[in-house]
Amino acid sequence: MKRILTLSAMLLCMASPLLKADEGMWLPALISQRIGDMQAKGFKLSAEDVYSVNQASLKDAVVLFGSGCTGELVSADGLLFTNHHCGYSYIQKHSSVEHDYLKDGFWAMSRAEELPNPGLTVRFLERMEDVTAMVLKGYKAKMTEEQRQALVKKNADKLKEQAVKDGQGLKASVEALFYGNQYFLFVFREYTDVRLVGAPPSSIGKFGGETDNWMWPRHTGDFSIFRIYAGADNMPAEYSETNVPYHPKRFMKISTAGVKEGDFTFVYGCPGSTQEYVHSDLVEYIQNVSDPEKIALRTTRLGIMKKYMDRSQAVRIQYSSKYASVANAWKKWQGEEKGLRKNKVVPVKQAYEARFEEWARGTRYAWLTEMLHNLYTQRNPVYRAYEYYNETVRAVEKIQMGMGRKLDMKDYYQPIDEEIFVAMMEAFDKALEDTYKPEFFLEKRAQYNGDMVAWKDAVFADENECKALAEALNEHYTQQIMPVVREYNQAITLRYRDYMQGQMEFEADKTFYPDANLTLRVAYGHVEGYQPSDAVYYRPVSTLKGIIEKDNPDIFDYNIPQVLRDIYARGGFENQPVCFLATNHTTGGNSGSPVLNADGNLIGINFDRVWEGTMSDLVFDPEICRNISLDVRYLLFVIKEVGHADYLFDEMVFAE
Ligand code: ARG
Ligand code: GLU
Repeated sequence: MKRILTLSAMLLCMASPLLKADEGMWLPALISQRIGDMQAKGFKLSAEDVYSVNQASLKDAVVLFGSGCTGELVSADGLLFTNHHCGYSYIQKHSSVEHDYLKDGFWAMSRAEELPNPGLTVRFLERMEDVTAMVLKGYKAKMTEEQRQALVKKNADKLKEQAVKDGQGLKASVEALFYGNQYFLFVFREYTDVRLVGAPPSSIGKFGGETDNWMWPRHTGDFSIFRIYAGADNMPAEYSETNVPYHPKRFMKISTAGVKEGDFTFVYGCPGSTQEYVHSDLVEYIQNVSDPEKIALRTTRLGIMKKYMDRSQAVRIQYSSKYASVANAWKKWQGEEKGLRKNKVVPVKQAYEARFEEWARGTRYAWLTEMLHNLYTQRNPVYRAYEYYNETVRAVEKIQMGMGRKLDMKDYYQPIDEEIFVAMMEAFDKALEDTYKPEFFLEKRAQYNGDMVAWKDAVFADENECKALAEALNEHYTQQIMPVVREYNQAITLRYRDYMQGQMEFEADKTFYPDANLTLRVAYGHVEGYQPSDAVYYRPVSTLKGIIEKDNPDIFDYNIPQVLRDIYARGGFENQPVCFLATNHTTGGNSGSPVLNADGNLIGINFDRVWEGTMSDLVFDPEICRNISLDVRYLLFVIKEVGHADYLFDEMVFAE
C-alpha cells in the first residue's frame, strides 16, 4: 500500500517537477495558475468554482472567524462550523457553575436558544485584487525605506477608503506579499451577530488535551457550531432580537462518503504566518538558539504550573487555559527544531545560497545573501535578548500587572507566579549580558546580593517595588531594545525584497506562493499517513475504537463522557471515523478550515498538524508534513448521538 502510494506521489512530483508535492498556500484570485495541477491530482471543479467575483463561489462559504481562525458556512441559514478550540473562549463566557457548557457541552434546541457573543465577528472576503501599481505610484528608486513606507501607507489608505465607501460592514486591508514586491487589496464584509449553536463536552472537543496535542494518532472532536445573523436586508447588523439568519451566497455541501488514502483534499482558510524564503542564518538561529532556549524556559514554567495543578483541582481549573497556551507553542517548537535538523535545512539552504550567488554575480542581486548574513550576525544578540525578555520577564503575571495589564484575578494563583518569578528572573539574569538589563535592575540585584528569592519576597509584598521593577524593564525594552530590533528588521526586509525577487528570477520556472499572512488561501494535497520513525507507519484514519482504547477515568485528558461509553457499548460504532491525516500545507490560523474533496464537498475540519512536520512553517517536507482534520462524519455522529441536536441536519445539504 505504502509503496504504491510513494510511487504515485513520485509520479505526481514528476508532473510538476519544480514544486515538491502538495507544498503551497495559494491565493484564491490566482488559482487559475494552479488549477491544472489540482485537476491533474483529482480536483473536479474549475477555478471559477473556487474563486469568483462575478458569481457565487466556494470563497463565499469561508470566513475569518474571530481574529485568528477559519470557519465555513454549511447551510442557507448561516450555520457555521469551526473548531472547539476556536469557540472555546465564547463557550467559556457562557459557562457558570450551574451551566458548565465547557464540561457538559451546549446544544441549542431551537434558534431562540442560540447564544449571542458580543465581540465575535466573522469576515467574508468580497474580493481581492492586485494593487501593486497603485500602491507604489509615485515611488522613485532613490527613496529611503522610510519614504517608501510612508508612500505605501498613503496610497494604501486611499485605496482602502475607496473600497469601503459604499457598503455596509465593509472592511479593507492592503497586504504586502513577497516582502513588498506585490500588494493586494482585500475587501471583506464583517458580520457582528454570531451566535453559539452547539459545542460538544470538552471531554470530546478537547479529548486528548495537551497529551495528544500536535500528535497522531488523534481522536479529538474539535468542533463547535455557530450561526451568523443579519438585518432584514441580509446585511451586517449589530445584535438584535429582530435579526434573522444570514443567507450566504454559497454554503458547503457535506459529503458522508468518507475518505481513504490517496483521496484528493483541499483546505480553504486563513493561514497566519510562514517564512519559506528566508536565509539559512535565520533557520540556524531558530534551530540552534531560539527554539531550544524557548523550549527550556517553557519546560521550567510548565513544570511549576503542573506541580501546583496536580495538587489541587481548583488550581488546575484556574491554570488549564494558560497551561494549554504555553504548552502549545512549546510542543510545536520541539517538532520544528527536530524537523529542521532532520531535513538538514541549514546546509541545504547554504548550498542554495551559494548557487544563487554564483548566478547573481554581476547583477543587482549580487551579495544579497552576504548582506543578509551580516545583518543577522549583527541582529542576533539583541534579537535573542528581546526574545528572552518575552519568555522570562513577561511570563511573570505579577510583572505584567506592574506594567499595567489587567489580569483576571479569578484565574490567579500566587504561589505559581512567585516560583515562576524566581526561575524566570534568574534565567533572564544569567543568560543575558548586563547591557540588556536596565540600570534599576542592576542596582536592585546588588541590593539583594543576587538573592532572587529575597527580591521576589519584596516584589510580591510591596506594590511599589513591583511597579518600579516592571516599569524599568518595560521602559528598557520598549525604548532601548525594541527600536534597535525594529531597525534591523527593516533593513532585513529591505534586503529580502530584492532577494525574493532574485529567487523568483533565479528559479524562473517555479511558481512561488507568498508567505502566509492570515489572508485567504487554498492548499491542496491528498489523504496520506506517514512514517514518524524507522519501522513505524501511521495510517491516516482514526476511529471511535481508538477513543475507547484511550479512555481512562483516572487520566483527565482521556476521561470520556459516560454517554460515549454507553453508545459504544450498544455496538455498531467500532469503525466510526474520527480524524484523518492529509498532506495539505497548513499553519496556525487554518484551525477550523473546511477540508473539501475532489467535488468541493465538505469532508472535514482542519484543526492541527503532526508535531514532526511543524517545520513546514519554514520548509515543507512532503514525507512528513501532515495536517490533522476532524472527519465530518464524527461531527455528525456527536451532534446526533451525544447532543440529540440532529434537527440541525434538516438545514444541511448532503452530497450523495
Ligand atoms: N495545536 C493546535 C493549534 O494550534 C490546537 C491548539 C489547542 N489545543 C490544545 N490542546 N492546546 O494550534
Ligand atoms: N491549531 C492550529 C490553529 O489554531 C492549527 C495547527 C497548525 O497547523 O499550526 O490554527
